[in-house]
Amino acid sequence: MAKRNLICGLDIGTSHVRIIVGEINIDGSINIIGVGTSPSEGLKKGVIVDLDKTVESIVRAVEEAERMVGTGISSAYAGIVGSQVGLVDNRGVVAVAGEDKEITEEDVERVLQAARVIALPPDREIIDVLPREFIVDGYDGIRDPVGMVGVRLEVDAMIITGMVTSIRNLVRCINRAGLEIDGLVLNTLANAEVALSRDEKELGVVMIDIGGGTTEVSVFQNGYLKNIAAIPVGGDYITSDIAVGLRTPIHVAEKFKTEHGVALPSLATDGTVVELQHIAGKEARKVMTKDLAMIIEPRLTEMLQMAAHELKKLGYTESPPAGVVLTGGVSLLRGAVELTEQIFDSSARVALPGYVGVKSPIYSTGVGIIHYIQHTHSFNGRERRSTRLVLPDFFQRVKSWFTEMFD
Ligand SMILES: Nc1ncnc2c1ncn2[C@@H]1O[C@H](COP(=O)(O)OP(=O)(O)OP(=O)(O)O)[C@@H](O)[C@H]1O
Ligand SMILES: [Mg+2]
Repeated sequence: MAKRNLICGLDIGTSHVRIIVGEINIDGSINIIGVGTSPSEGLKKGVIVDLDKTVESIVRAVEEAERMVGTGISSAYAGIVGSQVGLVDNRGVVAVAGEDKEITEEDVERVLQAARVIALPPDREIIDVLPREFIVDGYDGIRDPVGMVGVRLEVDAMIITGMVTSIRNLVRCINRAGLEIDGLVLNTLANAEVALSRDEKELGVVMIDIGGGTTEVSVFQNGYLKNIAAIPVGGDYITSDIAVGLRTPIHVAEKFKTEHGVALPSLATDGTVVELQHIAGKEARKVMTKDLAMIIEPRLTEMLQMAAHELKKLGYTESPPAGVVLTGGVSLLRGAVELTEQIFDSSARVALPGYVGVKSPIYSTGVGIIHYIQHTHSFNGRERRSTRLVLPDFFQRVKSWFTEMFD
């Protein structure tokens, strides 16, 4: 895949598996050249619970993307859910190696390696290291120290750790679907790539990804990810409320929600009536969108209040200066923005990737993975912080688990 500079982002979500293929141009811009989607049946609340079903979903999504791209896909970067990760702050210090004391990429690699040295419980593994700032001879706030002159190089970094078991299952499914893993990316960081502007991240913003089975809340400030929280609720709850409320099967309720759902009864005042199709011997019925909104509103309100509560627990009691940014499938509900504004007492908007064919918040994670890799890796210009993302030794270990498991 490297020859054409293709990057594949694989988002294994609770409701769908999505793979996005991006081509990186010489100028660093990205073209989205392939998309594959398949309903996901092997996950519950963002976590893989059925390996075989997950493998099938991945295979179907990959096949669809391969048909579109016209070439085989052999590897991908995969997203990892917030509920399975932990964030740890750490510092690394090294002496600048060169005789002229000019800081090089190698010094940066070494200091990032030094920051990785933390005591981890045996069930956790480092998946990413995010440098927040570099400090050269005591001068802090440096974003890129390469080329500067100094003796002592320090880094203030955030280490992202993942649960070994869930990473193992994820890797296993992807490999069994015939793909190698190029690396793992925290879904939140991927989403932020396409959903948040630099100014928003600098000022302070809350991002909420409401998917089918999970809601991930994150806070960015001073340009960096500060905190994440994952809540095991999502759009599936809204669907089951509709199914119960209208006494209809889940698949009908899901279709009804995505086609006619409104999150605020006040936005459904035009008296629109939609037909709930005839099913299993029952007469076709007419339902007012307002009635649908009366079912959706309390559940979405509850989910957003849970998100606000998680933020309070993390110490964020004020409304975020740059507002709230919504992403994930549920943000497509008409009225979701207005409801969010009411609950957070702040401005809100829905973010979507700006590419033809994937202009929907359901693609934010897959497209965001490609952006994240493009901007942290070596696809354009000089090699950048390649140690940040999963190190080879990590993969060696993962690979050896496989050999053990299949032996
Ligand atoms: N147009 C729409 N209106 C309302 N809800 C929608 C719409 N499109 C998708 N959804 C809902 O969004 C949810 C799926 O969102 P998404 O695809 O972001 O989830 P996922 O990434 O598969 O799951 P998760 O992130 O929870 O693991 C489902 O509950 C689906 O019903
Ligand atoms: Mg998702």
